[in-house]
Amino acid sequence: MPSPHPEFKNLVVFDHPLIRHKMSYIREETTGHRSFRALLAQIAGLMVFEVTRTFPVSPVEVKTPLEKTRAFRLSAMITVVPILRAGLGMIEGILTVMPEARVGHLGIARDHDTLEPVAYLNKLPRDLDAGPVLLVDPMLATGGSASAAITMLRDAGAQDLRMICLVAAPEGVKRLVKDHPSVMIYTAALDRALTDKGYIIPGLGDAGDRMYGTA
Ligand code: PRP
Ligand code: URA
Repeated sequence: MPSPHPEFKNLVVFDHPLIRHKMSYIREETTGHRSFRALLAQIAGLMVFEVTRTFPVSPVEVKTPLEKTRAFRLSAMITVVPILRAGLGMIEGILTVMPEARVGHLGIARDHDTLEPVAYLNKLPRDLDAGPVLLVDPMLATGGSASAAITMLRDAGAQDLRMICLVAAPEGVKRLVKDHPSVMIYTAALDRALTDKGYIIPGLGDAGDRMYGTA
């Protein structure tokens, strides 16, 4: 696992060569929605492998074709929560690695003029405190959507809460550190800044539109 970022103690930036390789393609303007979706799922799957490193396991006895032996299984209920729309693109890759996870859904869209998050869907399991919760959204820009999502998850009982994104802006990281200092953020890239319209630069554009071909 890479070390936390020197400036932001709540942030881990992944520098694995496979992740950096795939990020180069997903950022590319000419990458179409079919490849964009595949890359988003693949990068999320690679990231979740490390993010889950500290998840609890319990010993179990299994019988191989040769003899009984001790093995280990995940011992807590895991919940993955995408922020719609773009977070949905990360779910496929995460469930490939961790098919036993439950999926909650939060629908949040930024108002184009104010950049304030507007929540339109909240469909979460009742017992979110039953285990770790992974909030997923490829873009952490102003941090408004993620901060609102974390508040909704906390209100629903989430305790062990982590966020996975692909591209983070320093503004969004600072916002989460201020609003939710106990939440670790895992990102594949920490970019330079935000434009005055709230886009991450260099970024990858509007993730939801690129993923669904609605640009
Ligand atoms: C994008 C992205 C995040 C949000 C980040 O969603 O997927 O949810 O913007 O911006 P913020 O950090 O400034 O809140 P968007 O609002 O465009 O909705 P969509 O995925 O439905 O297009
Ligand atoms: N949301 C996106 O999809 N892209 C950005 O650059 C910022 C917010």
